[in-house]
Amino acid sequence: MKGIILAGGTGTRLYPLTKIVNKHLLPVGKLPMILYGVGKFREAGIRDVMIVTGKQSAGLFMELLGSGGEWGVSLTYRIQDEAGGIAQALSAAESFIPQKEKFVVMLGDNLFEAKLSGYIQAFAEQPEGAMVLLKQVPDPERYGVPHIENGKIRHIEEKPAVPSSDYCVTGIYLYDSSVFEIIRKIKPSARGEMEITDVNNAFARTGNLTYSVLDGWWTDAGTFDSLAEASAFMAGSGTKED
Ligand code: DAU
Repeated sequence: MKGIILAGGTGTRLYPLTKIVNKHLLPVGKLPMILYGVGKFREAGIRDVMIVTGKQSAGLFMELLGSGGEWGVSLTYRIQDEAGGIAQALSAAESFIPQKEKFVVMLGDNLFEAKLSGYIQAFAEQPEGAMVLLKQVPDPERYGVPHIENGKIRHIEEKPAVPSSDYCVTGIYLYDSSVFEIIRKIKPSARGEMEITDVNNAFARTGNLTYSVLDGWWTDAGTFDSLAEASAFMAGSGTKED
């Protein structure tokens, strides 16, 4: 399977840290954030990795990561011209994924402990559709929240005022190539973004969305508090061998 890391967006919750530096290049422990996602794919045996980012910082990603060889992967880069949402960023990767192939998408600000290989194996055995990874959190209202009935996700609500569960949908998604057709059909949300939650809900409606619960520590390092937590957690790691 191929892997895609989405590393665009504006990072407004981290202003002014992100005024001139893309969020995914900020330090976490001893490494720039993006290297953890690259490392997670390499650890799972995924070598063919695409990074999607905005045009302002693309050169810096290339300067840092080059071909990816130094980090054990082969990298392809793609530009998202404007920060129009996660689903829009993903659509920029369409030609990277052959028809009928399955692949893994990671939001570049999601940092976690678990190995991806078990989830990838489970998804490889799923006939078609999508799989999301959930995590129990104290503040589900910050995230997409799944509504689960009889062991199936019926619907995901993006940042609900009153969450129906204390699980959130993490930024690790497994899809087959039909996701690109779905993205073409969705419309921007009220905040003007192409929402990944709308994409996942399209899979849920046809009964093709499965889930697993992600093991171990996880954070979305998109706020000052979670970035500090991630740095503390990752302080001990930081070499290419970790
Ligand atoms: O972290 C998990 C959460 O991520 C999910 O629970 C939510 O359902 C999902 O919508 C997302 O919520 P966030 O509010 O955290 O998304 P954010 O706008 O911070 O974007 C997360 C990552 O997606 C960011 O690290 C880079 C990438 N991104 C985002 C946008 C808006 C892009 O590559 N391009 C974009 O235009």
